[in-house]
Amino acid sequence: MATNPVSAATPDIPALFTPLTIRGLTLPNRVVMSPLCMYSADDGVVSDWHVVHLGSRAMGGAGLVIAEMSAVHPNGRISVKDAGIWDDKHTEPWKRVVDYVHAHTDGKIGMQLGHAGRKGDTGESWKRGSGDETIMGYDIIAPTAIPVSERARVPREITPDEIAAVPGWYVDATKRALEADFDMLEFHCAHGYLMSSFISPLSNRRTDDYGGGLENRMRLPLEVFRAIRAVWPDERPISVRISAVDWEEGGHEIEDAVAVSRLFHEAGADLIDVSSGMVTNKRPPDSSLFQVPFAEQIRAEAGVPTMAVGNIEWAEQMNHIIESGKADLCVIGRGHMYDPYLARHAAREIGYDMPWPGQYSRGAKFRQLDR
Ligand SMILES: Cc1cc2nc3c(=O)[nH]c(=O)nc-3n(C[C@H](O)[C@H](O)[C@H](O)COP(=O)(O)O)c2cc1C
Repeated sequence: MATNPVSAATPDIPALFTPLTIRGLTLPNRVVMSPLCMYSADDGVVSDWHVVHLGSRAMGGAGLVIAEMSAVHPNGRISVKDAGIWDDKHTEPWKRVVDYVHAHTDGKIGMQLGHAGRKGDTGESWKRGSGDETIMGYDIIAPTAIPVSERARVPREITPDEIAAVPGWYVDATKRALEADFDMLEFHCAHGYLMSSFISPLSNRRTDDYGGGLENRMRLPLEVFRAIRAVWPDERPISVRISAVDWEEGGHEIEDAVAVSRLFHEAGADLIDVSSGMVTNKRPPDSSLFQVPFAEQIRAEAGVPTMAVGNIEWAEQMNHIIESGKADLCVIGRGHMYDPYLARHAAREIGYDMPWPGQYSRGAKFRQLDR
């Protein structure tokens, strides 16, 4: 069964601010910054932008910040400005980001490994459709030559020889992530990118061992997972982000997500980060906490700790998700863009006196002082 987060909560410490230990890693609280592509790297090399982007959210109290999807292969980029981890030159700049988080905050930092697959080379998100986006003409690959939408480029069907090379890309990237001293890995198997497009029957119509039933569609993601688990230290956890449902007929339903989660957990995944959709252009409801019930069901039925994400806004919501055992971690994306100090503000909202760095201790009582 999944860990019971409520057990560590006391009248003084709300569930949201209890630590969570997974393998040898202890997160100081349950607030996580979701991976957010910044489209701000230079040939995959991250910069000061990423030190501040990730460092400030860890300073802001998040127990874990997860770096954006970083490409394990240059052609696996969404845009030319994506972060990378396919080359040794990427390691040291990432280590600068990690070292900042370790030296100046109580938070931990994860690396998200990904390959954009058939959703590659569409340009920087805020320029897409404007005509100003940079299209590189990358060789984009997928399990089957089906475009993500009618207007999208048709990907090239990946060959069996190329499939055999994929675990090696991820293993090399994992070794670099370790050298950069990331505390945790997240294996990106959601949102229609390469791994996700193997898992969904909407994008995988292969007739070889890598297509067909769920066991075959999961073959490559599990081969990759096992390969990275084998080189990532035992004491450091790995989460897997999945698209629980495809929001389209013929695609995955929640029962499939439970089966997928069980397979990853059996292979050694410590957490399932439960997102949904984006395998095709069909849109999810995008209202309320529509993905949280998926995290709850996977946690209960697959017996694996989960991370809930999507539209989580308020401290009470976050605390309730943890306290009621719907998920083990609360993952917040856009909220962290709006407010780098989101975790500290959430703590105050629910009356928890979160420790501040010494340098800022006199600021901790701002707007609470007797005048
Ligand atoms: C600008 C932007 C970039 C994103 N980049 C990534 C990414 O690199 N990897 C990923 O798994 N999800 C990515 N996402 C999805 C978020 O991590 C998150 O799942 C989503 O925004 C829903 O959470 P929220 O409602 O708290 O924002 C991105 C979302 C946004 C808005």
